[in-house]
Amino acid sequence: MLHGISTSSTLVYLAAVLSLFVLPATAAPPRRRLPQIKLVQLERAFAGHCPNQTIGEVVSCGEALPYINDAIGRLFSLSRYGLKTRGQRAAYVSNMAYEGAYLKYNRNLVNPSQGTRSIMPAVSLKAFVDADSNVQLLWPTYPSLNESAIVDVLIENKADFLPGAWWTVAGPGCSDVAARLSKSEKSFVDWEKGCINGGPETIPARLAIYKTVYHSIR
Ligand SMILES: *[C@@H]1O[C@H](CO)[C@@H](O)[C@H](O)[C@H]1NC(C)=O
Ligand SMILES: *[C@@H]1O[C@H](CO)[C@@H](O)[C@H](O)[C@H]1NC(C)=O
Repeated sequence: MLHGISTSSTLVYLAAVLSLFVLPATAAPPRRRLPQIKLVQLERAFAGHCPNQTIGEVVSCGEALPYINDAIGRLFSLSRYGLKTRGQRAAYVSNMAYEGAYLKYNRNLVNPSQGTRSIMPAVSLKAFVDADSNVQLLWPTYPSLNESAIVDVLIENKADFLPGAWWTVAGPGCSDVAARLSKSEKSFVDWEKGCINGGPETIPARLAIYKTVYHSIR
């Protein structure tokens, strides 16, 4: 994981240096942006399940959207991940919808140290924190931290939408299957088995949501 991060930061650095030579001196640096999900698209993607109000752990689609778009676009900010394809964005949004009953729950009902917006159990949240040096700043004691309370710290700091986006493309075993995510059902099932591994009995429900989300966003 650490090796992967340092390789990609080297590539980012090389790309930045190369761009100095390729771009005309007067050109502003290119500002690439990933497509942002619009509220009407998220509402269509959630097919009538958007919570109407933010109360307790329930968050409305309108309030969640900036955090979802921020998580999707992190590749071009300080962190080094990003959901570059429509399939990757749909996989992230649909699994969050599945895990948290469409933004209704933020902590897993059975295991409260698992986040539903972050999509992950504590051990995977720890892998996320270890991979993201910006997020580590949330723990003054890092690398020492209370694993069962990671989800609480992420929620308090409004960082609970980030881990699921990271895992979608950068979690262990995820990058190859994430690269192939498309409108095909097989591509999603391959990704679910190789990356999320939420259990074979959950695949039909996850797939149904994925298809709706995929067709609703760009
Ligand atoms: C939101 O409000 C509408 C209209 O009152 C209702 O039909 C819908 O079921 C509500 N949605 C949720 C998720 O509660
Ligand atoms: C770790 O966090 C959990 C959940 O908030 C809490 O119950 C527990 O007391 C904490 N453990 C330590 C050692 O602080």
